[in-house]
Amino acid sequence: MQNPNAFVFILFGSTGDLSMRKILPGLYQAHRDGVLHPNGRFIATARSAENLNNYLEWMDEKVRPKISNETFNSDEWERFKKRFAYVKLDVGNTNDFSKLAQEMGNGSEVKVFYLATGPSFFIPICQSLSKLNLQKNARIVLEKPLGSDLQSSKEINDAVGSIFDESQIYRIDHYLGKEPVQNLLALRFGNVLFEALWRREWVESIQITISEQLGVEERKDFYDKTGALRDMVQNHLLQLLAIVAMEPPISMDSDRIRDEKLRVLRALKPLPADKISKFVVSGQYIAGYMDGKKVQAYKDEVGDNTKNQAHVNTPNKTETFVALQVEIENWRWAGVPFYLRTGKRLNQRKAEIVVNFKAVPHSPLGDDALRPGANRLVIQLQPQESIRLSCLAKQPGVGMHLQDVHLDLNIEKILKNKQMEAYERLLLDVIAGRQALFVRRDEQEAAWRWVEPILKEWQQPRYVPKTYASGSWGPHAASTMLARNHTCWLEEEN
Ligand code: BG6
Repeated sequence: MQNPNAFVFILFGSTGDLSMRKILPGLYQAHRDGVLHPNGRFIATARSAENLNNYLEWMDEKVRPKISNETFNSDEWERFKKRFAYVKLDVGNTNDFSKLAQEMGNGSEVKVFYLATGPSFFIPICQSLSKLNLQKNARIVLEKPLGSDLQSSKEINDAVGSIFDESQIYRIDHYLGKEPVQNLLALRFGNVLFEALWRREWVESIQITISEQLGVEERKDFYDKTGALRDMVQNHLLQLLAIVAMEPPISMDSDRIRDEKLRVLRALKPLPADKISKFVVSGQYIAGYMDGKKVQAYKDEVGDNTKNQAHVNTPNKTETFVALQVEIENWRWAGVPFYLRTGKRLNQRKAEIVVNFKAVPHSPLGDDALRPGANRLVIQLQPQESIRLSCLAKQPGVGMHLQDVHLDLNIEKILKNKQMEAYERLLLDVIAGRQALFVRRDEQEAAWRWVEPILKEWQQPRYVPKTYASGSWGPHAASTMLARNHTCWLEEEN
């Protein structure tokens, strides 16, 4: 499928970490898959490279290794690079924007401005674009984090919204671009099977986990300002929660899906300050072992600015782990606990959604069938995409003894097509003008509004995150939170 639109795609922050790891490899994949318009072109802007040659050398050195050998093709890579122009640009310099306008020209192509910069640059970039009237008929992509709390995100949204209409704004949450998230929609709304059970009468609890083995790498400066609540919970985890819990939309139109997600976010039970320590657990990793290798504590990690300098340890309160118990106050979900969890340097890399169904109301087959979670649906997003339904079956032989059996759907194996990476899909959607997988302003603000009391509570002097060893599953308190409700995280069973 070729993307029908010719486009000019302007990348701000084009030598940053995100451009290097995700955006440029995603664009290359789209190019290699032949789904970009042949006349589609890219303009990279940055301060660090002097000219196009320098920039392309940087791409060879830094971006090329991020592309898997399976999909890399050197001829295509060279052709991909030919689509690029470069403008050395300082966000504060109006002349530089005039050079950019010149490079863009006056063609009728779709214009995409991709802001892969820190949020403090969003407003000045938009203002400079509007001075030259470049916002007309353009699309703008905003990377997370969009602000650091409700107030700052409103300020950005107001400022960007005074220049670009909401229909031109694409707020990225790359979890929405993951194939299994799309599949969850297909599973829920394409089958009659699950929908009837997808409610408080039949669901005991739901767990959503995004765990990473990586630490903060060299992003400690960024992470000290952000923390896992802003980096992962406010966006990725709450978006997954919204998709799991939303009502069936009347169509797949962008706004119909986003309306339903918004209703979930607005129905999140508020967490007053005195309940936060009960329903939210935060943690920071200390040294430990990952796959047998010793790794250092968060407080000893280095950031971009501290690289090559003696690092001074300062006690800090940055959380690299968060677990929460959340409720949704609506007819479908009232009383069902949703347990959300994310962290760095955890035991395993995975992203999964676990739906634990209730036990049968009466068991003529003995106690085996009275265990909640005997029926369970596990939707794994990564590392593998799979869907597993656990049921009870009779053990072969004499008597009636039950055992767990699993109906496994390994989507990657069954549908042998190459998986499209989240960024490739989202970039193609921007060029094609599809907004369904992007976060609307009201959704984003509803999510900030809900996390705000937690952010406030964590500013109190008495607050300190708990510690957890690298390679573990996080602080013990995350397990006790579930134990209170006589349950545990999936990997703690057995
Ligand atoms: C990003 C966060 O949004 O998501 C990172 O800023 C995190 O801290 C990443 O590592 C995880 O994404 P994925 O797709 O690798 O699970």
